[in-house]
Amino acid sequence: MKNLVVFASGSGSNFKNILSAISDGKLKAKVVGFVSNKPESGSVLIAQEHKIPRFVFDLKQKFETGDLDQAILSQLKYWNTDYIILAGYLLKIPEIIVDAFPNKILNIHPSLLPKYGGKGFYGMKVHEAVKLNNETETGCTIHLVNNEFDEGPILRQSKVIVSPNDSASQIAEKVLEQEHLSYPEVIEEFINSKPK
Ligand code: GRF
Repeated sequence: MKNLVVFASGSGSNFKNILSAISDGKLKAKVVGFVSNKPESGSVLIAQEHKIPRFVFDLKQKFETGDLDQAILSQLKYWNTDYIILAGYLLKIPEIIVDAFPNKILNIHPSLLPKYGGKGFYGMKVHEAVKLNNETETGCTIHLVNNEFDEGPILRQSKVIVSPNDSASQIAEKVLEQEHLSYPEVIEEFINSKPK
């Protein structure tokens, strides 16, 4: 059984969905730890409810960045982490962590990358841009994480149709629904279909 550590900063619906897929037996893995930079977020509550060991920090605490990166890395090693699953984590993953987990970090992004990816494209900003550009389709992308924001190898893209009358929040809803369908499936395929 592979050990996953989930990183999240937001409401945590993908995190919750991954935990459900595990309890339903659709995803064969264990969440051994959780990392967040947002102590007040819904995702932290979910980790608490499920009694998942946590590393939660607040950048206002004036960490020396290098020390913080090292502290997260030590925690990941302590948890015997096999894979890191980013589920709405808004900070860039530090190089020392990317280098310690090559091709072992998965991310989900709410657009069809490379469109609407990179620095500044997160959350509603993505869906507002999709709406503004009158796109007829959008979707989500699950990819491996390297040292460039949103640029690692793509594992799967799932499309949704955008109707002319859809608001940015309606687009967000459609995409999130697709994320919930795809992410646990792709994680299962990726971690359990190849030798470690
Ligand atoms: C998702 O849209 C995901 O694609 C992006 O952050 C959002 C997280 O949403 N990376 P939630 O907190 O899982 O609901």
